[in-house]
Amino acid sequence: MKTLLVELGARRYPIHIGAGLLGDAGLLAAQVPGRHALIVSDGNVAPHYLARVEAALLEKNIRSLVLPPGEQEKNLARFADVIAELAALGASRDVTVLALGGGVVGDLAGFAAACWMRGVRFVQLPTTLLAMVDSSVGGKTAVDLPAGKNLVGAFHQPAAVIADTDTLATLPLRELRAGLAEVVKYGAIADADFFKWLEDHADALLARDANVIAEAIAVSCRQKAGVVVRDETEQGERMLLNFGHTFGHAIETEQGYGGLLHGEAIAVGMVLAARLSAHLGRAPVADSERLQALLLRFGLPVTIPPGLSADALFARMRLDKKSLSGALRLILWRGLGQAEVVRDVPEADILAVLS
Ligand code: NAD
Ligand code: GLY
Repeated sequence: MKTLLVELGARRYPIHIGAGLLGDAGLLAAQVPGRHALIVSDGNVAPHYLARVEAALLEKNIRSLVLPPGEQEKNLARFADVIAELAALGASRDVTVLALGGGVVGDLAGFAAACWMRGVRFVQLPTTLLAMVDSSVGGKTAVDLPAGKNLVGAFHQPAAVIADTDTLATLPLRELRAGLAEVVKYGAIADADFFKWLEDHADALLARDANVIAEAIAVSCRQKAGVVVRDETEQGERMLLNFGHTFGHAIETEQGYGGLLHGEAIAVGMVLAARLSAHLGRAPVADSERLQALLLRFGLPVTIPPGLSADALFARMRLDKKSLSGALRLILWRGLGQAEVVRDVPEADILAVLS
């Protein structure tokens, strides 16, 4: 097991990464210091892994809520379901909410934990690659609205993250690929050596080589934890983690959250952001091509899905959370390993890349 720390002072917490961690009853039981807990999971994850988590918490008063899977379920109605379950449990301030699943379950359960009695203890048990490398770390919790992704949410850090890499064995290949998009993001925005390492280990990652995947998760979490410690509430540097996201979120929203997976949309978004940067003369065209080539090697989409108009996507981009006073702020880059926040990108240039 590798353990990293997110050094947030009194709210510092560990990220444990390793094989078989959900079978470590002692580790799981230690996450619930109070008398009761709510486990939130989804219908794809629960049949594989819920029983082990419940077995570890036998001494506690626990309830489990299994939600239907999918991004379309990350909404206010499901948030209300989690809150109702906490009420049924008679949850008091010493309750622990455990999120067992991917980023959808983590964001939703985390938001409920942030709101219940103005904030209770919350532990992330990520079971997708995307959740292990990104969404379980850093305390962003939210639900989507028809108007936009993650528009209602809170910053609420977990008390611990336990990433059992064995759970990736049951993850559908398409979901593994989607998680790799966020791994590529870390190389693209801040670590050209890691990007090269990903190129060299692409086949091993796709083959789910345990050591290589664990290394990719650890490098990603280390990078994310560093950014979160320096800029927890996204006043500056943390915005860079949204490379590709303004474009990607626009695609997801425009598709009604039922089209591309989040990681797939981010892959397309990163290629668009890179292409825009090259178009504006800020980044080498060759780097943008290298980014696209690695994403293609991971089996990820790199073009806007058919049927989405440039004008509609641009209108969605305006509602991005990084916009200030109606002005769009985009994460562009200077080439591999270097991202930057850019304001006032001419609308015509954005529309040119979207067309
Ligand atoms: P997800 O939670 O929908 O999981 C993907 C699919 O895999 C689901 O169908 C799920 O049921 C299934 N699944 C999960 N683990 C499995 C396993 N081990 N075996 C078999 N099936 C499994 O999606 P995701 O890609 O994990 O997360 C995407 C979400 O994360 C989006 O809503 C995105 O906005 C959010 N996100 C949040 C942050 C953050 O900082 N909070 C960062 C990145 C992404
Ligand atoms: N996924 C972007 C962030 O956590 O800030």
